[in-house]
Amino acid sequence: MKKVAVIGSISTDFVVSTDVIPMQGQTVVGKDFKTFFGGKGANQAIAVSRSGIETFMVGAVGDDIFGTALLENLQINQINIDMVAIKKNTSSGSAFIQVKDGDNRITVIEGANGKVTVKDVQMIHPKLLEMDMVVLQNEMAVEVIEHVLAFCAQNNITVLYNPAPVKSIPSEILADVDFLTPNEHEFKMLFDNQTIADVLPKFPNKLIVTLGDKGAVYHNGQEQVLIPAEKITEVVDTTGAGDTFNGYLVRGILSKQPLDDVIRFANKAAAMAIQKPGAQQGIPYWNEVK
Ligand code: RIB
Ligand code: NA
Repeated sequence: MKKVAVIGSISTDFVVSTDVIPMQGQTVVGKDFKTFFGGKGANQAIAVSRSGIETFMVGAVGDDIFGTALLENLQINQINIDMVAIKKNTSSGSAFIQVKDGDNRITVIEGANGKVTVKDVQMIHPKLLEMDMVVLQNEMAVEVIEHVLAFCAQNNITVLYNPAPVKSIPSEILADVDFLTPNEHEFKMLFDNQTIADVLPKFPNKLIVTLGDKGAVYHNGQEQVLIPAEKITEVVDTTGAGDTFNGYLVRGILSKQPLDDVIRFANKAAAMAIQKPGAQQGIPYWNEVK
């Protein structure tokens, strides 16, 4: 079985649905509260694992009650947690999500995710060398991201970098990336407001821009190709759609399918994910997508 390490955040999502977003000093009564497992790193690791790949999580949780549950959840999803540190006197990562009329307002607290250091990653260099692919996102310190990309480039380990959420990163590091998967918003930040059509030909078969319910675009060396998203009428919760897309890209890339098919497949998986609440519940298994 292929081996993949996902280096990234592990968080709890605290989701409040409300008709009124409180103003300063105001108290309002909301409609509903739920907790879900989340964090872009963990979500992507679960997508990779459910797609049938041996998955290793690299990251950290805090020494609070949430940390214990977060680790257990990864294990239930067949993910190896030997490279997840427990940071002392630190809260586990969390995302506070207010939902009003389907619109989200999200406050992310990095907690332990923000305490992952370059030294933590250096300690697991030998293990990373065993990987067929490394996956990372932006819910980590920039120096950790830079370090991972440089290490993988030096050692010929294929990297998929999902630069989410938007973060200012030095554009030189993009040279070291094998697959880069921003959404439109993240794309603008990375490429200084250039147009997608101008930039795509410079990164053929490498840059994949996701366009929400429109699908995803890339350039195949000859032309720009749009792979449309699946049409879904019953959208329940789009949280984690991008993570599912990225996780399933990994499986397709490793099985050496043409990129068109890889993206089409990842689109299908993402479409299934948004039909269930929370970031992880709807992430499908390989058999379901097939
Ligand atoms: O991509 C979705 C994730 O981003 C959520 O699970 C939440 O943790 C946020 O960080
Ligand atoms: Na979902």
